[in-house]
Amino acid sequence: MNEFERRPIRSIGVLTGGGDCPGLNAVIRAVVKTAHRHNYSVIGIRNGWKGIVEGKVEPLTDCSVTGILPKGGTILGTSRTNPFKDEEDVARMLMHLEKFGIDVLIAIGGDDTLSVAARLHEMGIRVIGIPKTIDNDLSCTDYTFGFDTAVSIVTDAIDRLHTTAESHQRIMVLEVMGRHAGWIATFSGIAGGADQILIPEVPFDFDEVCDSLRGRFNRGKTFSIVVVAEGAKPKEMKEAVTASERVDEFGHEQLGGIGQLLGRELERRLGVETRVTVLGHVQRGGSPTAHDRVLASRFGVTAIEQIAEGNFGVMVAQQGDRIVPVPLADVCRLKTVDMDLFNMAKIFF
Ligand code: F6P
Repeated sequence: MNEFERRPIRSIGVLTGGGDCPGLNAVIRAVVKTAHRHNYSVIGIRNGWKGIVEGKVEPLTDCSVTGILPKGGTILGTSRTNPFKDEEDVARMLMHLEKFGIDVLIAIGGDDTLSVAARLHEMGIRVIGIPKTIDNDLSCTDYTFGFDTAVSIVTDAIDRLHTTAESHQRIMVLEVMGRHAGWIATFSGIAGGADQILIPEVPFDFDEVCDSLRGRFNRGKTFSIVVVAEGAKPKEMKEAVTASERVDEFGHEQLGGIGQLLGRELERRLGVETRVTVLGHVQRGGSPTAHDRVLASRFGVTAIEQIAEGNFGVMVAQQGDRIVPVPLADVCRLKTVDMDLFNMAKIFF
């Protein structure tokens, strides 16, 4: 045990990293309120890992978290900073943990943020992870908060596209988020009654997509709705379509454009007027659903309970109806769409 691991817990640092999502504030509120019951103080770290590198922190009191439960985004701010890109940043991070008396760190994030947390744990820092991503693609947890809100936003969009598609007898292509996994496309496609769902896990064939839509038109249907995840690609393409050459500090490109490519091709091949909608960051904005507020609150409370029990280096996860700790080292693997569910969706095409 090193000195850091031995010292009594008085103060907990909390940060939110990676893309924001609805429910982050609900977690922060649950962390603060539960921590105070255990007599821990809470320090908010600004803008993800960047804040601990730069020493930007603020105390979080009961008043700081009043009224934030339904609020989207994160009151702490976020970034895609990777402190392990630069050894000096790692040193600064350790120095600031010491300087601000942070005894345990709670990192709320997706695979990138949690991979940093896992490395810190290996270095002897006491950390707890909380899974966040609208993409729902983190291993070891059935769901991440933010996903349910994103699915309801997309489902609402599909409902709206249905009425205008029907009026104009068009094909409507809807591009949604989902970099490596098509959970949002699959869930919202089923919930909204999409006529095609295209996901990163299953490269698609233009001929097959066109045959399926042609079949609908031959059966007397006058319109079609196609939901495509941003990371989906046709069989002949090696990489997903990108919106920009820039990569973030974890090496991810900005995806986007498959909707336009698909829309053009469908219109050309089928001769049916086609329109493309890209929902983009609308899916990550606004107030969390009741489901996400409950899940986020349960994650926050359980994170503090793990600290009180002295169980570090874990991520709190939903497994069935329970919130359980799982080793941080296990979680940064991609959770792809359940193929039984994806194949079930085809019954409705
Ligand atoms: O957080 C995951 C995610 O929403 C992905 O689905 C998407 O590719 C990415 O974030 C977009 O990130 P940014 O906010 O950097 O554009």
